Amino acid sequence: MNYAVIGTGYWGSNHVRVATELAEEGTIDDVILCDLDEDRLDDLASSYGVRGVTDYERLPELGVEAATVSTPSPTHHRIATDLLEAGIDVLVEKPLAIDSEDAWDIVDTAAEHGRTLAVGHIFRHHPALVDLKRRIDRGELGRIKYLSTSRFSFRAPRETTGALYSLGVHDVDISNYLLGEQPEQVYCSLDDAVREGIDETATLVMEYDGATSVINESWQVPVFGKRRDLVVVGSEKAAYVDYLEDNVIELYDSRVVERDGAMSVRDEGKQVYEAPNREPLRAEIAEFIDASRGEATLRSPGHVGARAVELLEYATRSAETGNTVGVAASDRAEGTSERADPARLESDGSGTDPDSDGVA
Ligand SMILES: NC(=O)c1ccc[n+]([C@@H]2O[C@H](COP(=O)([O-])OP(=O)(O)OC[C@H]3O[C@@H](n4cnc5c(N)ncnc54)[C@H](O)[C@@H]3O)[C@@H](O)[C@H]2O)c1
Repeated sequence: MNYAVIGTGYWGSNHVRVATELAEEGTIDDVILCDLDEDRLDDLASSYGVRGVTDYERLPELGVEAATVSTPSPTHHRIATDLLEAGIDVLVEKPLAIDSEDAWDIVDTAAEHGRTLAVGHIFRHHPALVDLKRRIDRGELGRIKYLSTSRFSFRAPRETTGALYSLGVHDVDISNYLLGEQPEQVYCSLDDAVREGIDETATLVMEYDGATSVINESWQVPVFGKRRDLVVVGSEKAAYVDYLEDNVIELYDSRVVERDGAMSVRDEGKQVYEAPNREPLRAEIAEFIDASRGEATLRSPGHVGARAVELLEYATRSAETGNTVGVAASDRAEGTSERADPARLESDGSGTDPDSDGVA
């Protein structure tokens, strides 16, 4: 399999590193780089000893069968559509597109052409989160009541996308992934006091059937250095994940008990577990390659990425109106109207925190 990485900038260069490692190991044959920036392309191509082209439309003639698209988000729709129509399977970085119409259009194009479409919701491959998901699914935490996540740092806001689309896109999807359902209502507040039109702080409350997810994203909190973490509170146990530690998960056995009409706290302490460690990006790309060969189920197929973009639009509407917005139930969000792949098996990847400042 010849594999291309289109867009070799900040994040795409990580895709290049992983793809070349997979080529060295023999998982894929050749890696071909594509970027409009010739200097960047030449530097990377010569340092990895691979070919580079500036025009992605040349990739089919070079025998490319699967590709990462890690170009700026507004270009995803055009590039992903052209590649899918040319018969290439694609892993598109998140957000899949900047509006849901384009995102679902990419999903439809993949289905029409029988191609594999993955979206780079990398936290679905984060080792601690994968472990937490397993524990939630087997009922270890009881009924999940509350999730609270924070991504704080102090930096100049990006010029193109704000905190909601850069950071919130991760946590909206993580909430859905962990709870295994879609929110019924979304409230969102956005602040753009620093760079007009680019939110530096995004605060979301997503209401699920019986659970609330509170999402705090900000590039204007100098208090913690960089903080990226998650608390999940269940009726039996609570969990804490610090995303900056790839594979550590803390479980708290604490609850309020009632005896003789009085409430008190019973605290059995915390347990710390280490999940098997694996770089998330490597797990994501390896799974995509396996899925492209019909040998794996995608954790983050196209409909997951499209639904995340859709939820960001609900959040934006809430921020614009100042009201909580009801979320329409969607069969498509569950993937039920997507192409069924007969040869899907669950793969067992996990991985690393991708977020660094300047990143999503
Ligand atoms: N999964 C994650 O955690 C994560 C982290 C960071 C970024 N991202 C996503 O990755 C994507 C890229 O982000 P970035 O920070 O690396 O951006 P970047 O600006 O550093 O890099 C983008 C690259 O794409 C190239 N490019 C633009 N148009 C092109 C075209 N038509 N053909 C070929 N190359 C083209 C540019 O020359 C540039 O080198 C974005 O969608 C972003 O949201 C995801």
